[in-house]
Amino acid sequence: MPSIETVAEPLVSLRDLHLSFGSNPVLKGIDLDVYRGQAVSIIGPSGSGKSTILRCITGLLQPQRGSIRVGSTEVHTLVQEAQRIELRKRVGFVFQQYNLFPHLSVLENLVIAPRKVLGRSRADAEKQARALLAKVRMEHKADAYPGQLSGGQQQRVAIARALAMRPELILFDEVTSALDPETVGEVLTVIRELTEEGMTCVLVTHEMRFAEEISDIVYFTENGVIVEHGSAAQIFQHPASERTQAFLRHAVGDPGRRPAVANDPYLLTNLGRYSLSV
Ligand SMILES: Nc1ncnc2c1ncn2[C@@H]1O[C@H](COP(=O)(O)OP(=O)(O)OP(=O)(O)O)[C@@H](O)[C@H]1O
Ligand SMILES: [Mg+2]
Repeated sequence: MPSIETVAEPLVSLRDLHLSFGSNPVLKGIDLDVYRGQAVSIIGPSGSGKSTILRCITGLLQPQRGSIRVGSTEVHTLVQEAQRIELRKRVGFVFQQYNLFPHLSVLENLVIAPRKVLGRSRADAEKQARALLAKVRMEHKADAYPGQLSGGQQQRVAIARALAMRPELILFDEVTSALDPETVGEVLTVIRELTEEGMTCVLVTHEMRFAEEISDIVYFTENGVIVEHGSAAQIFQHPASERTQAFLRHAVGDPGRRPAVANDPYLLTNLGRYSLSV
């Protein structure tokens, strides 16, 4: 059977991206591909450039060199803000800080952009909003305000709000790192379900076990370069680079020497984190 690479164009393609902040080179030649329906994780130490890569994909940052393509859009060539706004309609972005509109109810948070940006009718936008809230198990909080919700609940609303724009892909940047441990699992469950449904996702995460479980492809970044990439099994079980091995030793324990999953003490003690509470 032909591999996916030979039958399809990547939805997202980064080539030789170079980006500096002033004299500080942050991306030093990044190549990265995301195919439709894939879940791609970017892992690596703090400051290695992971968030910068995601911000380049949405046109929030302009690289000094290299190309960024999302579908048929050559993102690096966009010069007008209006063109970047068009791009952002197609690319959902969920951050660590959920940034819901505090003065709007949960329902209105989901209705506002489809109405104002996509021109959908109120009835239409509201119907979709309720369906998305059900999907992230938040329909019972439709009339609540963000300040009345837990961090995990707000993050689930933020994911639903991104989905309300019917994006072609969603970028997740450390969406669980500001959450209480007991609410991390409910957000990860929502993301896992999206990937299972075939939503194209790029995730920056420090939740290594989660990345291993849900990713088709994993990229390991360090110091502005991709040290290696491969299937989740390759990167987590048989990393080729010593740098990746050292990083994973710190992050998840020694690859290859971990107990079998069924007996994995981490999973057993963290099972609660993977179940959904509402
Ligand atoms: N707006 C900015 N201005 C100047 N320097 C920046 C800016 N944004 C990021 N940097 C620098 O770029 C480097 C990469 O940052 P980036 O946020 O991409 O790292 P990261 O891999 O996402 O790290 P973390 O895991 O801590 O989120 C860092 O050294 C950071 O200080
Ligand atoms: Mg970051």
